[in-house]
Amino acid sequence: MTINQYEQIYQTLKHQGAPAWTDKGYARAWENLCITLARIQDSGILPAPGAISLELGCGNGAMASLWLSRHGYQVYGVDISPTAIGWATESFRAQGLEGHFNVADISAPVALLSQHFDLIYDGSCLHCLTGEQRTHCFENIRHALKPEGMLIISSMCGEPKRDEDRLNYDAERFQLNKDGQPWRTLLPLDLLQEEITAQGFVIAQTQVHENPWWDHATLCCYLRT
Ligand SMILES: C[S@@+](CC[C@H](N)C(=O)[O-])C[C@H]1O[C@@H](n2cnc3c(N)ncnc32)[C@H](O)[C@@H]1O
Repeated sequence: MTINQYEQIYQTLKHQGAPAWTDKGYARAWENLCITLARIQDSGILPAPGAISLELGCGNGAMASLWLSRHGYQVYGVDISPTAIGWATESFRAQGLEGHFNVADISAPVALLSQHFDLIYDGSCLHCLTGEQRTHCFENIRHALKPEGMLIISSMCGEPKRDEDRLNYDAERFQLNKDGQPWRTLLPLDLLQEEITAQGFVIAQTQVHENPWWDHATLCCYLRT
């Protein structure tokens, strides 16, 4: 999808009073996120509250950024959509929360990530990227993550399960297409793990949430030393 398409989607969502990107699926998405992050927290590997976090593709801030803020983390977020960033800023302010949200294209060769983070959370943004964009995204992450920091990747994975998605799936490139254009990268879990490893990370934990449409993986990773 192009920058403009994300921007248009957020303008429509905001105009319609949607709670977030997931719109009517927000309550379910929020519940899944809370369960997943609580499991990571219980396993003792999540950086401690107070740590400085960045959500990639933070949207209007109503998912991981909100969870992190409520759990005592310093919150930063980037998104390609100016409307999403304005919305996240307003929403945090209205809730009396502190968050720093900026427009950035995480697939650009050098994204504007001038700080270093203890925790980088991929807000289901990596799977929006295809081909070389993903390589640039990993470069940006390696640049912005502190040496001992944690990267959490939250990504669709596996194969499409619905007939209409199978018809639009390019199984050679592992891409779901929309209107004939690459839309999402949908890698089998083992290939996603291989990519993350090849990009210089060690995977400490993988959780997979099964859905009727495709599965969703959450992977906790560290930079390989
Ligand atoms: C699936 S949505 C998830 C949004 C949010 N994290 C949530 O959970 O509600 C993916 C987000 O990534 C953003 N995005 C897509 N491509 C991007 C890019 N190249 N750089 C930064 N953000 C991007 C979109 O605008 C969108 O907000």
